[in-house]
Amino acid sequence: MKKIAFMLGWMVVPVVLADLHAATVDDLLAQYQRDGAGPFRAEQGQALLNQVNGSGSASEGNSCAACHTTDPRGAGKHVKTGKVIEPLAPAVNRDRLQDADKVEKWFVRNCKGTLGRVCTSQEKGDFLTFLTTLK
Ligand code: HEC
Repeated sequence: MKKIAFMLGWMVVPVVLADLHAATVDDLLAQYQRDGAGPFRAEQGQALLNQVNGSGSASEGNSCAACHTTDPRGAGKHVKTGKVIEPLAPAVNRDRLQDADKVEKWFVRNCKGTLGRVCTSQEKGDFLTFLTTLK
């Protein structure tokens, strides 16, 4: 009996973890919608990734793809430090988009560095939608 309970326990863990990730993104998208954004489109998120900007600082690169590459399922590389950046897509990297504060922190930093301004709620929602729809 104990053994069965133990096995069932382990079967539940991945389900709970998957839910946690979904909850974070869903909460963020709901927040962005309260800010007046939406509906969100994955194509727009992909466009933001690849968009080349005139106002990015030299040390930060002039597109998101400069560090994250054009495919979020693969590892990226920091333009300045050369450090490896693990893939952004949760489908291949379970550690991604788990913590709303972390996501917001990096949006602020990366958007300012790349676009020279913070991203709008619409842009952030489109980007997260793009990342989570990748298989
Ligand atoms: C100069 C390099 C660089 C550029 C350009 C860059 N990023 Fe990042 N990004 C990073 C680093 C470094 C991290 C955090 C390190 C890590 O978690 O692996 C990160 C993390 C993130 C995360 C957090 C994911 C999580 O773990 O929850 C998101 C979302 C993100 N970036 C989006 C963007 C977007 C959108 C752009 C373009 C507007 C962009 N990044 C441009 C380097 C960059």
